[in-house]
Amino acid sequence: MELDSLGTLERTHHCGALTTEDAGQSVVLAGWVARRRDMGHLIFIDLRDREGVTQILLNPDHSAAAHQKAKGLRSEFVVAVRGQVIRRDAATVNPAIATGEVEVLVSELYVLNEARTPPFPIEDEIATSEDLRLKYRYLDLRRPKLALNVKLRHQITMAVRRAMDAQGFYEIETPFLTKSTPEGARDYLVPSRMQPGSFYALPQSPQIFKQLLMVGGLDKYFQIVRCFRDEDLRADRQPEFTQIDIEVSFAQPETIFRIVEPLIAEIFAVKGIAIQTPFRRMPYREAMERYGSDKPDLRFGLEFVELSPLFEGSDFPPFQSALQAGGQVKATCVTGCAGYSRKQLDDLTAVARVFGASTMAYVKVLEEEVQSPLLKNLGEAKCREMARVAQAKPGDLLLIVSGSRKVVAESLGAVRLQVGKQEKLIDSNALCFLWVTGFPMFDYDPAEKRFVACHHPFTSPTDEDLEKVVSDPGAVRAKAYDLVLNGMEIGGGSVRIHRQDVQALVFKTLGLSEEQARLRFGFFLEALEYGTPPHGGIALGLDRIVMLLAGENSIRDVIAFPKTARAVDLMAECPTPVEQKQLDELGIRILGRRD
Ligand code: AMO
Repeated sequence: MELDSLGTLERTHHCGALTTEDAGQSVVLAGWVARRRDMGHLIFIDLRDREGVTQILLNPDHSAAAHQKAKGLRSEFVVAVRGQVIRRDAATVNPAIATGEVEVLVSELYVLNEARTPPFPIEDEIATSEDLRLKYRYLDLRRPKLALNVKLRHQITMAVRRAMDAQGFYEIETPFLTKSTPEGARDYLVPSRMQPGSFYALPQSPQIFKQLLMVGGLDKYFQIVRCFRDEDLRADRQPEFTQIDIEVSFAQPETIFRIVEPLIAEIFAVKGIAIQTPFRRMPYREAMERYGSDKPDLRFGLEFVELSPLFEGSDFPPFQSALQAGGQVKATCVTGCAGYSRKQLDDLTAVARVFGASTMAYVKVLEEEVQSPLLKNLGEAKCREMARVAQAKPGDLLLIVSGSRKVVAESLGAVRLQVGKQEKLIDSNALCFLWVTGFPMFDYDPAEKRFVACHHPFTSPTDEDLEKVVSDPGAVRAKAYDLVLNGMEIGGGSVRIHRQDVQALVFKTLGLSEEQARLRFGFFLEALEYGTPPHGGIALGLDRIVMLLAGENSIRDVIAFPKTARAVDLMAECPTPVEQKQLDELGIRILGRRD
């Protein structure tokens, strides 16, 4: 087809803009052919751009040349039109689109480019596989839904910049070619050509640099920054993702909460959602005891009930062995579910088993009696006592798990979430923000036979627990906090160690010799010696926040060019092997490939 040039033609409106108020106006639109309907005499085209769709009308009685040209148009051809906005007949009004009351009667049609037939239809509710969409991401981005997500992300980043600027923060860039950082996932390494055999690491977060900015006296820093982590991926994780990274001098946890809450309010205001601040706060231990999770979904109840005291000295083997080993017996009371079938209970037991529970018991509280597989071992009185402690009423179901604290928390936590979903207890419009505070400082890694940092090694212990850092590391709480929304961690941060003596104690507990610590973080430790102010910060997961606001289930849908769960870019087809010449220059020899 012969192509036209854009020449001096200037677009006057986007395709989502025209309304009946524009009727009579002469306009120029440009975009892609979304659909062409040839009605014989008349041709209708849905013209699409980033902002929406406008119906354009070609009538041979109005412009024979344009009508003739329109016969050759196919899906995704790029066109511009000049024409007049007219009201549609009442019968053809399309309330589904913003411009549905008008159409443009074309006088001039310019065909700016042809297109191959796209590998999938560019429409929202399409059944195309995600892999195909990722391979042709530039076509997928033309889908209105994805274009809206990209727009929402832009609006959110702009809101973040406005809010942080208003609070006196500087946006400061930190390096990408840097040294291994302390977040605990694997690093992406970049070989150095100038120093063969040496590598940069891409930052897992700007943690060290933002702390150095505080040493540098810059007081309030933020950055919307790409982070790189070579970790196993899930729907809410990407190998490169974006943080809203924040650091503040002279900060307590409450200082950070007071900065982040209005920021989150600004972000949600982008979608016209007003949120309540301050957010709820809950110590980590309480979250674990009541919900079995450090990121509890508070949109519904099903809190845990502690039954352990009822079984002290019990000779019922599963409970006895759990309690003797320092474990627990806990339950959750599900209102109105005493009628659960054998199959429903088996399915929930299977969920508990995935998280290490050997089994799950139940008590069905009925009007006249209680039913439970525990009756024959524990007797009716004990079963009724459990029901009483759990405040179960006739018609309710008690689900009971025993085991170590970890197993009880994780398995009953998973059962709670499953029941919440299947009983439709979750209000999908609710927004339950929560600060989880006072995380443990250290976690014992049985494989490595040593303590590791739960957050990162620069996190400050609480003042009360400082003296236990070496003597009883497992009991030390950190000035670390997470921001949780509807059961998803959307941010995490801490107050940092600013004193060298405290940092040395923490390294000691982590099993890092002075020499090892100097090797890994030497420049940073030296900086601590030059008048480091107390400071703290947080990083919010931008992709996760946009995902929640866009109502998507995967962060891939809010990232312009995401990678698959196997960290592959299907469009650019990478990672790929490189030429031998490049490897030679870098002094790298490939020993073999892993599948
Ligand atoms: P943390 O590791 O908790 O803290 O990360 C902060 C937030 O970043 C998001 N996030 C991710 N999002 C998508 N894909 C990933 N792979 C991914 N990993 C993390 C989460 C998380 O809450 N330097 C510290 C922050 C600090 O202490 O100030 C840090 O990076 O929403």
